[in-house]
Amino acid sequence: MDEIKGLRRKLFLLFIITFVSIFIFTVSSSRRNRSIPNHRRATSICPSHVSDQTITPLNNTKHLLVSAFKDQRVKGFDIRIIGVFRRDSIQPLHCRFCCEGSLSITTPANILQHSDNFGFPFVATDVMCPIPENCNATHVTLLPQPESGIASNQIWLPIRNRKTNMDEEEKLQFNFTVCISNLFGDYNNVLQFAQTLEMYRLLGVGRVVIYNTSCGPELDRLLQIYSQDGFLEIVPWPIHQHLNPSKGWLFSEHGGDVHYFGQLATLNECIYRSMERSRYVLLNDIDEIIMPYQHDNLMSMMNMLEEQHPNTGVFLIKNHIFPKKHFEPSGRFHLPQWIGLPGVNILEHIYREEPSINAYHPHKMILQPRLVEQTSVHEVIKHMGNHFQVPQEICRIIHVRVALQRALTLEELNVDKRLWDFHEKLVPNVDKVLKRAGLLNSEGQG
Ligand SMILES: *[C@@H]1O[C@H](CO)[C@@H](O)[C@H](O)[C@H]1NC(C)=O
Ligand SMILES: *[C@@H]1O[C@H](CO)[C@@H](O)[C@H](O)[C@H]1NC(C)=O
Ligand SMILES: *[C@@H]1O[C@H](CO)[C@@H](O)[C@H](O)[C@H]1NC(C)=O
Ligand SMILES: *[C@@H]1O[C@H](CO)[C@@H](O)[C@H](O)[C@H]1NC(C)=O
Repeated sequence: MDEIKGLRRKLFLLFIITFVSIFIFTVSSSRRNRSIPNHRRATSICPSHVSDQTITPLNNTKHLLVSAFKDQRVKGFDIRIIGVFRRDSIQPLHCRFCCEGSLSITTPANILQHSDNFGFPFVATDVMCPIPENCNATHVTLLPQPESGIASNQIWLPIRNRKTNMDEEEKLQFNFTVCISNLFGDYNNVLQFAQTLEMYRLLGVGRVVIYNTSCGPELDRLLQIYSQDGFLEIVPWPIHQHLNPSKGWLFSEHGGDVHYFGQLATLNECIYRSMERSRYVLLNDIDEIIMPYQHDNLMSMMNMLEEQHPNTGVFLIKNHIFPKKHFEPSGRFHLPQWIGLPGVNILEHIYREEPSINAYHPHKMILQPRLVEQTSVHEVIKHMGNHFQVPQEICRIIHVRVALQRALTLEELNVDKRLWDFHEKLVPNVDKVLKRAGLLNSEGQG
């Protein structure tokens, strides 16, 4: 009897011990599970496949993605993906992040089409994504379904502008960045391009960003030289491989899929690309120079303007046409080493049209990128702070091109030799870069 009692007690103890240990194990393992943040539940590692293209088609949609940036200026959203979306096929999208190697849960995206579409089927679009908690996101991708599985070929965009504390102003790499949207066709205006870039440099520009779809052979050589020394940043822009880009601005007149080779996407991308590194961004065309008329350089002009107009994010500069059919009569800058080079010699064109009161004279802009959210070509769509129209006595755009007001005679134009004020440095600098590109006419070199 005693033996049986002892055995029962032992069995009972064994039962209790087993039960307690199972209980402890269950509780502790469920605790452990709970301490794993949500985003680490999924086991796949990421990013599997990072896009190395400037234009990345979003799989199973008609849309194109360009770049993803951290942007915490809009409440509730942390990431802005700039893309080109087909307006008639916009569907809900979900953001999934790669958080330092592990996959996140999905969050619903907010899709914001830019208001300027000029009737084209494709439009510049911002996709805004909230990052889930406890996720230090390095990459982002978009999915048509929430929590849908990640295919192994899912393509990821790297997230840029991830600096945590915004550097103080002094630490910015550049004071001025010029953003030039799309270079396309066989554009080969070498002389004007070299003169314009050297003029920018004298005015204090530190970086020029250009989106290259295609260009002529001599200009290609010059672009290579400028990008070698870091003054020029060339972003490949093969939009024609994805869409039928329009060479014009209005769908009803020019047809095609998207306004001017996707100019609005590139201009916006350039602002975000410059946000962490440049104090100001200039948005102007390849044949335009934003020229201070009372200061030697852009910085001293901006210091004055900022003092007079604090908290201004957008400075509007009026366009002024210098018709290329009228030549300066003395031929002072008709230099032998430039003869035969493709393109316009801007120093030979000193007659300026007075903007007529009746005609529309579009502005171009100097922006503080951190105060701008969305831009169009001649105006900013969403920004913080004020905007200010800079008087033409202080600053004009020098734009050498075909005449706008064709009927004006020479006597009705203003003589404007502002570019000549810089000739002592400008001419040798232009010669130097043309020589490096192997483009200088040898007759002029001796
Ligand atoms: C996020 O990751 C970056 C490197 O990718 C690191 O520098 C930063 O400290 C991380 N932030 C946090 C909060 O872990
Ligand atoms: C896109 O999806 C198709 C199948 O739906 C797949 O074959 C292809 O590899 C995917 N491409 C990318 C870049 O994810
Ligand atoms: C920006 O301009 C200031 C003058 O206001 C100058 O001291 C500084 O060196 C410039 N920075 C760069 C990166 O050129
Ligand atoms: C510009 O793009 C065209 C077309 O892809 C290419 O042939 C050319 O080399 C590019 N030029 C530069 C300077 O990147």
